[in-house]
Amino acid sequence: MKMPTPPPVDTVDVGHNGFVYSLRRAAPYIGAHRGSTFVLMLGGEIMAEGGGSIERLARDIALLASLGVRLVLVHGARPQIEARLAAANASIEYHHGLRVTNDDALTCVLEAAGTVRVLLEARLSSGLTIAGLTTPGASQRRSLRIASGNLITAQPLGVREGIDYQHSGEVRKVDTTAINARLDAGEVVLLSPLGYSPTGEVFNVAAEDIAVATAVALKADKLAFLSESGCLTDQEGHSLPQLGPDDVALHLERLDADSELSQQLHRAVTASTGGVKRVHIVPRRRDGGLLLEFFTRDGIGNLITGDAYDAIRGANIDDVGGILQLIAPLEEQGVLVRRSREQLELEINYFSVLERDGLVIGCIALYPYVDDKIAEVACVAISEDYKGENRGDWLLTRLEQQAKQQGIEQLFVLTTRTGQWFKQRGFKPADVDALPVKKQAMYNLQRNSKVFVKTLATVE
Ligand SMILES: CC(C)(COP(=O)(O)OP(=O)(O)OC[C@H]1O[C@@H](n2cnc3c(N)ncnc32)[C@H](O)[C@@H]1OP(=O)(O)O)[C@@H](O)C(=O)NCCC(=O)NCCS
Repeated sequence: MKMPTPPPVDTVDVGHNGFVYSLRRAAPYIGAHRGSTFVLMLGGEIMAEGGGSIERLARDIALLASLGVRLVLVHGARPQIEARLAAANASIEYHHGLRVTNDDALTCVLEAAGTVRVLLEARLSSGLTIAGLTTPGASQRRSLRIASGNLITAQPLGVREGIDYQHSGEVRKVDTTAINARLDAGEVVLLSPLGYSPTGEVFNVAAEDIAVATAVALKADKLAFLSESGCLTDQEGHSLPQLGPDDVALHLERLDADSELSQQLHRAVTASTGGVKRVHIVPRRRDGGLLLEFFTRDGIGNLITGDAYDAIRGANIDDVGGILQLIAPLEEQGVLVRRSREQLELEINYFSVLERDGLVIGCIALYPYVDDKIAEVACVAISEDYKGENRGDWLLTRLEQQAKQQGIEQLFVLTTRTGQWFKQRGFKPADVDALPVKKQAMYNLQRNSKVFVKTLATVE
């Protein structure tokens, strides 16, 4: 019986194409960031600036929170402190890059930090509304709930080389239990550049240090510094989307040690070596900078990460969604055999995935026929965005090692279009007879895949 021709699929008109494209590209990041903890540090400059900057940032922060990101914000108050010091004819002196906070200066710090915090709370409260994330009349919460308090315990810097740093302090302890409880309740935690002592004192603590200590203590997925002066480029001005802590150290040599960027990069290295997987420097003046940094492949700032390489690991049930998303277009093109979600769930232990930033960007499967000491390599795929950097080779090499450890002597693959790629990697064309008997019985004549076999070098 002749099947009726299906009606044509409506394609998205050109005007909407950009939107659909961007949303689809952002979708994996939305999934990956849900439930993640981000610590964001912003300077006091944005509050001093006006012109809608803080409203735009509040909108983006509200959007991040509504996408399920657990947010801790740390604010600075430098311009506000300096303005108060000037008005009070007081000053903060620096020794070896550390500030000396005397009694007058502490008063200015407390006033400035308190004012910035309250104003930020007010702006953030309206973030959901500005972002259009509330429905008038609906019972849902209408504003972001902000939690702040004595969550950072500090100790005095004390006397160093004869200099008494007075009310300047450093972080002694981050109350992770209280912060996590707030985050679990769906609140956004806001920290000021202050620390409290159990004896009732308040210390002036650099906001950057609070951000680092908090991110490390919370084992945050990301720490981001919003930078006033843009981000790090190479000497020719080319962007540097990803750097390891060692690369940062090299670039730091040519930066002014007192500059904001240098200070942030130093802290980024500290956080990275302290276990924060991803530290970002994001240009604050770029509208939507945080969204571009977190939801696009290369972002717009610097990502400092100790993970020099993407990680390959055995897949688990939580990877099923990511694998399906990766292979769906290839199944549609007929490059890969179709697998249902159920089948993939059953076979997930045969899969390894290549992961970057919480996203599955590659996969490969190994189905062993132990009695015949042979195994099938299947479902090799690298995400379109990440092709061209030999990741496929890397996955295959890892798989071969894994197979050898399981006592497998030969690998085979059935492919309709990728034979050449496997041939270049030591696979040789073979007949269907070369397959294990069980597989021969399942051989899909209609698909007419070509068979390739590789004998693995023996393990010493
Ligand atoms: C095969 C694959 C995993 C390799 O990913 P990768 O390591 O990022 O490598 P690339 O895609 O950049 O390809 C590397 C080289 O192989 C070549 N290549 C890729 N696919 C090929 C194919 N189907 N046939 C022949 N050569 C191919 C590329 O042209 C490139 O050659 P070059 O280095 O001379 O430019 C990836 O191309 C992929 O996902 N393909 C679709 C899925 C697939 O075919 N899987 C195999 C069936 S199980």
